Amino acid sequence: MKILAFESTCDETAVAVVEDGRKVLSSIVASQVEEHKIYGGVVPEIASRRHAEAISGVVKTALSDADCALSDIDAIAVTYGAGLLGALLVGVNFAKGLSMALNVPLIPVHHLRSHIAANYIDAPDLKPPFLCLTVSGGNTVLTEVCDYTKFKVIGGTKDDAAGECFDKTARCLGLDYPGGVMLDKIATVPDFKKYPLPYPKIENEEFAFSFSGLKTAVMNTVHNAEQRNEEIDIPVLAATVRKRVCDMLCDTTFKATEKYGYKTLAIAGGVSANSELRVRLTKECEKRNIKLYYPKLEYCGDNAAMVGIQGYYEYKDKNTAKESLNAFATLPIDYRYLGI
Ligand code: KG4
Repeated sequence: MKILAFESTCDETAVAVVEDGRKVLSSIVASQVEEHKIYGGVVPEIASRRHAEAISGVVKTALSDADCALSDIDAIAVTYGAGLLGALLVGVNFAKGLSMALNVPLIPVHHLRSHIAANYIDAPDLKPPFLCLTVSGGNTVLTEVCDYTKFKVIGGTKDDAAGECFDKTARCLGLDYPGGVMLDKIATVPDFKKYPLPYPKIENEEFAFSFSGLKTAVMNTVHNAEQRNEEIDIPVLAATVRKRVCDMLCDTTFKATEKYGYKTLAIAGGVSANSELRVRLTKECEKRNIKLYYPKLEYCGDNAAMVGIQGYYEYKDKNTAKESLNAFATLPIDYRYLGI
C-alpha cells in the first residue's frame, strides 16, 4: 500500500511517499526557515502563503523521487492538527482535493502521533507498548504509546515547551532562528557555577514540566548584565540553559519509566535532535537497562515520512476522514477523529 503524506503544521511544506507502513520511498521538505529568520520566528500569515505556493511542486518531486505516479497512490494522509491553523488548512485542503480526485481514502493524522512514528522508520523491532518523550517547539509531553493508535498522556508542560524555551533564550542571546539548533551548537563551555539558573518544579505533579521560569531567568541574567555593561559569556550561559532543560527532561522521564515499569523509551520532535539530550538519555538508559530509540536527525523535525507511517496505522485502525475534514490549532493526542 502506497500512502502520499502531507505535513504543513508550521514552516515546512513536506510531502512523502511511504509504502506498506514503514518503507519511506521519498521524503521532501521545503523549508521556509530563511524567510522567517529575519523576523526571529515564524510569521503565520507568511507560512500559509508559502505552503500554498510550494505544495504542488513538492508533491511532484516526492512522486518522482519515489519513482511513482499519482495513479500508484492508494491513500492520502495529512496532518490535521495541532499546529498553525492557516498553515494546516493548506495541507488539509490540498489532501482532500487529491483524495477526491483519485478516489482514495483520506487519513487524518495527529502531529504528535506522527512525531512518535518517526521512530519506526529505522527501527523495525520497535513496536508498542513503550514510553515516549515528545519535545518540540510547541510541545513537551510524556506519553504511553499503548498501541499504534492508542496513547495515554502521563505528563506534560504547564507553560512553555522545551523548544520554545530554547528558541526564546537563544533570541535573547542574539542567536539566529531557529534558536534551539544554534544554542545547541554554541553551548560549548560547561561552567555551571557562573550563571546559577533555577530548576523549576511543579508542586504535587509528578510528571509535569515547567520551562517559563527558566526562560525568564535567562532574560533577567542578560538584562542585568546589559545594565551593568557586562558582557555575557554566551557559550557558558547556553550550556547552562541546555543542561537545565536536559536535567528536567531526563529526571521526569526516568521517574516515569520507573513508576510505569517501561523498558523501552523513545524520544521524538525537533528537540530530540539536541546533542546533550541524546548523550544523557543514552548513558542513563544503558545504566537502567532500558532500550532507547530516537529518530535520525532528518526525521526529528517536521517531515511527511512520519505522517505516512502513522497514517498507515491509522488506516489499519479504520481511522479515515470524510471530505468535511477540518484543521485544528489544538488537538489532544488521544482524540479520535469522528468524521464530523
Ligand atoms: O518538531 P519541530 O521541528 O516543530 C514543531 O513541531 O514544533 O521542532 C522545532 C523545535 C524548535 O524549537 C527548534 O529550536 C528545536 O525544535 N530544535 C532543537 C534542536 N534542533 C531543533 N532544540 C535543541 N537542540 C537542537 N539540536
